[in-house]
Amino acid sequence: MASAKPSGTRLRSLDEICRQCPVIAVLTVHDVRTAQALAKSLVAGGVRVLEITLRSTDALDAIRAMSGVENAIVGAGTIVSAGQVQDVVDAGAVFGVSPGFSPAILHECRRAGFPLLPGVSTATEIMSARDHGIDIVKFFPAEAAGGRAMLRSFLAPFPDIRFCPTGGLTEHNTPDYLGMSNVICAGGSWVAPASAVGDGDWAEITRLARIASSFR
Ligand code: 3PG
Repeated sequence: MASAKPSGTRLRSLDEICRQCPVIAVLTVHDVRTAQALAKSLVAGGVRVLEITLRSTDALDAIRAMSGVENAIVGAGTIVSAGQVQDVVDAGAVFGVSPGFSPAILHECRRAGFPLLPGVSTATEIMSARDHGIDIVKFFPAEAAGGRAMLRSFLAPFPDIRFCPTGGLTEHNTPDYLGMSNVICAGGSWVAPASAVGDGDWAEITRLARIASSFR
């Protein structure tokens, strides 16, 4: 049985998704009533790729709501088990992100025709992902796992792997990551601070999104 078609923007590949804007917004939505305004404020500032973490009870509803926002490319983050994949596909997500590399999750994503950005933080994990045909990975948690020095060290043995560093990135250190040749894009929650979301300060989020989208 075919699953419901997502109403959001569907792109062909992870490569295409990662090239849409320099920064992927990592969003944990606690109140679905804020979801559309949040997505619109980010898209208005040029941040189109939105990763909604599965860390709140409203996450699937938020994916559904945000998928209806024009020009938003909505994905699901914090996928930690294969059983979550069909749920996020049915909610309208067009890509997935996992904090680590799991062959079972990758298998389920491929079965569903769903691009996955898996997380890695060691050479062993990169080799395992590579053995499964992956060449774009999330470097997580970027700052805690060695930051730019670690990414530089990965360049010689893994010249074919491109990274999306996420975890501990800010408005200030993101441009340095984006300047690295093996970084395809970066991720961060800093574009939508919880305080601004709580205050409904959408203008502030658009301002931060403009900064993020001007980095490249
Ligand atoms: C993630 O889930 O990718 C990270 O928790 C986001 O990290 P940040 O909040 O430090 O940007």
